[in-house]
Amino acid sequence: MPFINFASVNPLTDLTELNLNWKEADLPERERTKHVHRLHPYLGKFIPQLAEVFLRKYAREQVVDPFCGSGTALVEASILGIDSFGADISEFNVLLSRVKTKDYRLGNLEVALWEAYQATEARLKASSLDAEEATSEYLARWYTDKARRELLAYREQINRFSFSEVMQIILARAARSARRVAHFDLDFPTEPVTEPYYCRKHKKICYPTEQALPFLKRYTGDTIRRIQTYVQLRTEAEVSVVCGDSRQVEFPFCDLVLTSPPYVGLIDYHEQHRYAYELLGLADRRQAEIGPACQGKSKAAQAAYVEGITDVLDNVSRKVVAGGTIVVVVHDRYQLYPGIGKKLGLSPEVILRRQVNRRTGRRATNFYENIYIWKKLT
Ligand SMILES: C[S@@+](CC[C@H](N)C(=O)[O-])C[C@H]1O[C@@H](n2cnc3c(N)ncnc32)[C@H](O)[C@@H]1O
Repeated sequence: MPFINFASVNPLTDLTELNLNWKEADLPERERTKHVHRLHPYLGKFIPQLAEVFLRKYAREQVVDPFCGSGTALVEASILGIDSFGADISEFNVLLSRVKTKDYRLGNLEVALWEAYQATEARLKASSLDAEEATSEYLARWYTDKARRELLAYREQINRFSFSEVMQIILARAARSARRVAHFDLDFPTEPVTEPYYCRKHKKICYPTEQALPFLKRYTGDTIRRIQTYVQLRTEAEVSVVCGDSRQVEFPFCDLVLTSPPYVGLIDYHEQHRYAYELLGLADRRQAEIGPACQGKSKAAQAAYVEGITDVLDNVSRKVVAGGTIVVVVHDRYQLYPGIGKKLGLSPEVILRRQVNRRTGRRATNFYENIYIWKKLT
């Protein structure tokens, strides 16, 4: 039976006895994307329940995630009362992690976000907004004039209201949905869709999106609801997130490193949120991404990847206290991690293997992911 009694995990639980091969029915999407975990789509994230299992088993006071991505481990740690520290090279991912893990005054948040939405509507009615002036080549290509104008009108409000970081995430999420892309191709679109098309996801003729305002409205409400749920669950545990290359980041001492690193040639993490970089003017540090898809999967790419990951794990493992644990969740297709652990002199406790079931679209594949659990002995 797949294991779903997550709250029962404790330091004595034998992980090798747990069946972590969840199918959709065992751990449905709404559970995997509960509360703030779905503030914005993100390709390649942890299942929160998986993070929860390792936190309950190994974390005592402080967990570190050197590839924190959308902040899954940090969110789960904050719920369990464990201080956490995350780092990521992508400024958008850091923004998303921060917005997810903050403590909010809920009444103020709700009022400010709805006022900002109403101010956007008023702005669009009051005068013509020169969308051309503020437009980049990317925005001109991927949005209709109407959608672009609506996004830019919302962007104008961002610094006029408190909770500007939450507004940035709402804007980015609406911008993702308002791109002229096919519904089944939201992750890796290559060409804008300008005509009606047969939609593999909805099994009917669908039309390219023409506006952004309905998304801004829908995501304003959805964001408020998700944050409201999370704030009831989070504890006073501290959460810190920094943007930087984890080969150089100064990490705090910790008893657990829990992370899922990028993998060789699979995803371009900056590019997957390109619309956010374009709209929010975030700094682009893609040249420091480890294992980006644009570098491919060649032997040379694998060697560069091993060097990069080894440097990060070396840097962070220096801060793991004696007896602490390093958990790395990765689809290790080329079996690179046993060598990395050896190089670092880490002692393997166990390697778990988990079947990942994917459901729809271009990601409808099944594969195994390895979970390397290493001990820091001294
Ligand atoms: C598999 S994702 C992590 C997902 C995360 N566990 C979650 O649940 O959202 C890997 C992350 O590593 C980040 N990354 C890649 N190279 C990095 C580097 N040199 N330093 C820090 N982060 C890096 C990417 O931006 C990406 O967010």
